[in-house]
Amino acid sequence: MYRMIQLESLIPETLPGVSLFIRHGENHVLYKNAALPFTHSDKERLLGNNVKFLFVTADEISAYNQYVESNLATLMNDESLEPLEKQNVLYQASVNYVHEIFDCPAVAIRQNAERCRKLIQNILNDVMSSDGVMTALSSLVDHNSYTYVHSVQVATYSISLHLKMFELERDELIDVGIGSLFHDYGKVYIPKVLLDKPGKLTATEFMELKNHPVYGYSTLKDLEIFSPVSLGIVKHHHEKENGKGYPDGLTSYDIARSSKVTAIADVFSALTTNRSYRTALSKEAAMDIMYGEMEGSFDMQYLDTFKGNLY
Ligand SMILES: [Fe+2]
Ligand SMILES: [Fe+2]
Repeated sequence: MYRMIQLESLIPETLPGVSLFIRHGENHVLYKNAALPFTHSDKERLLGNNVKFLFVTADEISAYNQYVESNLATLMNDESLEPLEKQNVLYQASVNYVHEIFDCPAVAIRQNAERCRKLIQNILNDVMSSDGVMTALSSLVDHNSYTYVHSVQVATYSISLHLKMFELERDELIDVGIGSLFHDYGKVYIPKVLLDKPGKLTATEFMELKNHPVYGYSTLKDLEIFSPVSLGIVKHHHEKENGKGYPDGLTSYDIARSSKVTAIADVFSALTTNRSYRTALSKEAAMDIMYGEMEGSFDMQYLDTFKGNLY
């Protein structure tokens, strides 16, 4: 099994420490052994041949992810890279992290908690300093599974709306980012056939799906590394203003602001991404649904601010 990686994520004159492969038709051919550094001339030659992606084996994806993460600060300050190229590397690294962690037993979350924090710090810096994140986030969709991209989108939109609405300490913003990155973690306990079902779910299937906030909350709480803000988001991102949400049927005043924000980020991300049962909606069409048929779900002041932030 090979996993695609971005050429931009490799810093010339460093040692990625993983074997790099290149695609030739249907096959993957060894491009560079793990013991050899990636050089400037390698990069130029590849770009000259219009190669934008390389491959690593699934066994080495964690080592590759950690290589990219350890270089993120350097990459983010590299003036030879376009802002969009930097964002592509950052958001892809975040998707790769989620993919890696959601595929491992829950204990891996504790072992890799610092990596998560660093990624969220980078996302926070990016949201605070860039003009927009929509382009970078939507370009992730083609090459990655929905759940992983969705997690990163929700974390990013949620941080962004918190920044617009409240004066928060950096630590709380990071907790918001972590909680929203893991908001759907409980879905790892829901059968995949149910998550990918193209048609409408039966009542029983929907009841099972509705367990994911509680599954995620109990697992993550037991790790004893998540803050109450992060855990609240995981448990309550499907609550609705009118009390018709789940798992607790909370109404407006009882829903924490971080859960209200994440609920908006969650639905917007879901509606604007291709799914097995429908193609992605434009942001305008998504907003129409959120104001129209989903009326009563969201806090209107929050939704107005979110909408104002989009254009
Ligand atoms: Fe969810
Ligand atoms: Fe979600």
